[in-house]
Amino acid sequence: MKKKIPLAKPYFNNHELKEIKKVLDSGWVSQGPKVKEFEDKVATYLGAPYVVSVCNCTAALHLSLLSLGISKGDEVLVADYTYPATGHSVVYCGATPRFVDIDKKTYNIDPEIISKKITKKTKAIIPVHTFGQPADMSPIMEIAQKYNLKVVEDAACAFGAKYHSKFAGLIGDIGCFSFHARKGITTGEGGMVVTKDKDTADLIRRLSVFGIKTAWAREKKTRSFEVPIFTDIGYNYKMSDIIAAVGIAQLPKLELIIKKKQQLAKYWDEKITEIDTIKKPYVSKNVRHIFQSYVALLDKKIDRNKLIWELNNRGIQTQIGTYSSCIQPVYHTKHDCNNSIEIYNRAIALPMFYELKEDEIDNAIFHLKKIIKG
Ligand SMILES: Cc1ncc(COP(=O)(O)O)c(C=O)c1O
Repeated sequence: MKKKIPLAKPYFNNHELKEIKKVLDSGWVSQGPKVKEFEDKVATYLGAPYVVSVCNCTAALHLSLLSLGISKGDEVLVADYTYPATGHSVVYCGATPRFVDIDKKTYNIDPEIISKKITKKTKAIIPVHTFGQPADMSPIMEIAQKYNLKVVEDAACAFGAKYHSKFAGLIGDIGCFSFHARKGITTGEGGMVVTKDKDTADLIRRLSVFGIKTAWAREKKTRSFEVPIFTDIGYNYKMSDIIAAVGIAQLPKLELIIKKKQQLAKYWDEKITEIDTIKKPYVSKNVRHIFQSYVALLDKKIDRNKLIWELNNRGIQTQIGTYSSCIQPVYHTKHDCNNSIEIYNRAIALPMFYELKEDEIDNAIFHLKKIIKG
């Protein structure tokens, strides 16, 4: 039987095993020195002043909003086309997400619509760097400044992406990354917060550890045993040293993975132009798109869900792009983000991962053509 082509596949080798073994041998497997080492390495890579690791990006978003004081009665503007972790994080704070439609070309929040959704209750904006392509941050930051709003970048899919020459995640007040299985580098589950503000970082750190100082901070700073004091209602959102060990082994591969995915995206682009009912993803000028996913747009006539099913039967795994938030019943809101709803229905994520081969793309194109022709 022919080998299946997965949608995504992490790039692991002996390095991850070696790093994990060090942690297991040390006996310190919960949050400890490896988390600190991973954070330091990420801070160096990004040039980020403050970095706090957490258990996933959803927790990163939740704590970021809490650190900004977002609470009941507040509204937060959220890019509509996203994994609903983004909207959920606002609801966790007791606040209301107000979804903002996207630009159909980039799949990212449309800055021109943001101002129309601002009310007296609006406190923050969460742009999402969809599939690894940074949102148009300059106009977003201008609007934020004009209306005195905070900006939390949902950079879950954009670790290593750049807007002009700046890393995604470091443009707004706070940036949140994911190391989930389908992200550029992965630790299985994992997340990170970056910020330029020390007090914000300190608060997020405390909130990630039940509202106390971390074990390693207490160890370093005192000469006698320091009994923790619970200053805030924090959460158990810690990253463990086992997870951080995987991150330490993954980080040096990041640039390699990005470059390879960019080459593969070019190859997909060339091949996709052979099918006139599929549009390749648009890449904005002045961004470094890292292609967390390669998401193409199908002609309206194509039944996307049937196509996914038929490709799967032929050994090619694909997926929808991501979700329109406003139509999810959980939010009880108006279905008014028409571009996002349309992209939600028409987009298809095609296989994209470091070890993907060009002949596998050829094979996928062959089957796409056959199925679409009927
Ligand atoms: C845009 C976006 N935001 C947030 C998340 C949540 O990330 P995590 O799974 O690390 O909690 C995801 C996950 O896929 C995502 O795609």
